[in-house]
Amino acid sequence: MAKPNEKFKTLKNVFDDYTEKNLFKLISEGHFEGLSTPIAIGKEANVFAARKGDGFVIVKIYRLETCDFNRMYDYIKMDSRYIGLKKKKREIIFAWTQREYRNLHKVRSTGVKVPTPYAFVDNIIVMELIGENEPAPKLKDELPKNKDEFLEKIISFIKKMHEAGIVHGDLSEFNILNYRDSPVFIDFSQTTVSETANYTELLERDISNIARFFNKIGLSVDREKIKKRITG
Ligand SMILES: Nc1ncnc2c1ncn2[C@@H]1O[C@H](COP(=O)(O)OP(=O)(O)O)[C@@H](O)[C@H]1O
Ligand SMILES: [Mg+2]
Repeated sequence: MAKPNEKFKTLKNVFDDYTEKNLFKLISEGHFEGLSTPIAIGKEANVFAARKGDGFVIVKIYRLETCDFNRMYDYIKMDSRYIGLKKKKREIIFAWTQREYRNLHKVRSTGVKVPTPYAFVDNIIVMELIGENEPAPKLKDELPKNKDEFLEKIISFIKKMHEAGIVHGDLSEFNILNYRDSPVFIDFSQTTVSETANYTELLERDISNIARFFNKIGLSVDREKIKKRITG
């Protein structure tokens, strides 16, 4: 096994000091041993695979410098759990990260398939890697063998969440993984609870996105029927 200094060396000068400190904290607590492969660079976060024992976990790092915290604020200020949040960059990013971590726990408790959340600190979340040592493909990149069955599972997931008073808010073929021909929902950064002003709007958008995608790949699905099944 590498000495601690060797593990840390690879992280030096890649992240800002604050993020580096948080990564070291998570490493010293045993959540992972070191970042390995960059998986994605998104609008706000960088996602890495990180070694842990024989396997890997996912580390999602919200950037403290180049992220659109105004957009984050517009979303999170409507969430009934974050009323009164101050419009300060760091506070918003930390609340955003914490919210995603809490959302993962809440959705997981409904029985919907999501990555198991392991830990978070300030701007970093550690979670289960969905896949066999490498991330499972997104739905957009690998179509299911049985499209009807896959869609039925997605509908049942949205319904379970809705019954628990929670909506994904950014659901599409980009944020659903195809793991062993079954859906796993990821990316709960826009997920919010039913007391939130735009809850219904987000639910309708999620349903529309799913209906659009499955129509595009050859099924004949009716958005309104799906909506009735979920909300009826
Ligand atoms: N737990 C996970 N297991 C496997 N792959 C993941 C996981 N979380 C994220 N990914 C991969 O990283 C990409 C970006 O993660 P995501 O949470 O969607 O961030 P963003 O907010 O940038 O879209 C995903 O599209 C997916 O390919
Ligand atoms: Mg995403």
